Amino acid sequence: MLKLEDSDIHLWYADQAEFNVPELEENCINSLTDQETDRYQRYTSEQRRKQFLLGRMLIRKTLSQYVELPPAAWKLVANDYGKPNIEIAGKDHALFFNLSHSGDRLVLAIANNESIGVDIEARNKPRRLPKVADRYFSPTEVADLFALPEVEQLSRFYDLWTLKEAYIKACGLGLAISLQHFSYSFPSDRRILVDFSDERNDDAAQWQFWLIDPGGPFKMGLAIKSGLNKITKIQSRKYLALEEIITIDTDIVRD
Ligand SMILES: CC(C)(COP(=O)(O)OP(=O)(O)OC[C@H]1O[C@@H](n2cnc3c(N)ncnc32)[C@H](O)[C@@H]1OP(=O)(O)O)[C@@H](O)C(=O)NCCC(=O)NCCS
Repeated sequence: MLKLEDSDIHLWYADQAEFNVPELEENCINSLTDQETDRYQRYTSEQRRKQFLLGRMLIRKTLSQYVELPPAAWKLVANDYGKPNIEIAGKDHALFFNLSHSGDRLVLAIANNESIGVDIEARNKPRRLPKVADRYFSPTEVADLFALPEVEQLSRFYDLWTLKEAYIKACGLGLAISLQHFSYSFPSDRRILVDFSDERNDDAAQWQFWLIDPGGPFKMGLAIKSGLNKITKIQSRKYLALEEIITIDTDIVRD
């Protein structure tokens, strides 16, 4: 069994191309809850169906790396905003996770802390920057973004996007949190600073953020409300197949 300290985050990656639907169905379909089966059957896009099934397989198989329970034993229940968590009988294991997918790639972040959020996005997808930035970013983020040379703007845009998503996913509230109510800034020393507005009423000292290069054409933001138990180690692994896992480097770009 793997051990997860309070000061650890473990990241688990998978690429859809390495898996096929019949294999996933055979391994995972019986462990889905009724709610999950219903969702799976309602997806019409083949890509989304596979992504969903692979995500659920990844979550259950990975949780079973930490606790001696078969993957099918994990009951996952979403909160009112869609964040799935383990329904824990008797609170005997404090394991928490958050999943993100973009295109072919999935990432799962595991910690002993419920307030964990991760977001992966394709880094080169063109965007109508002024329009989208005005809509989703705070005024200071927009000003800093457009003060950059044009060639750097798309990269900053996805840094902001993934970090903002990681925070709202860590809170478990999704877009019920106004994206204008918190702002990131990026000093030259590789740090990430956050500023919460009075409306958001959160405390920057409680949080840790990372921009991590997950390899390939992706950007990734990671957030955790670690409080006094600061995270000091992030480990990464990748599923090459259902039973084949390798350890990979964690490439921290900023923290
Ligand atoms: C649903 C949301 C939480 C994340 O959406 P997303 O970035 O498109 O999707 P991701 O792949 O990163 O994450 C999806 C996974 O997060 C989890 N999730 C769902 N709701 C969640 C929530 N409220 N909090 C945390 N995690 C959540 C689920 O595991 C989901 O996977 P599943 O659909 O296979 O069950 C929400 O933030 C959203 O709708 N965002 C839309 C994108 C947007 O406009 N962002 C503005 C960015 S600046």
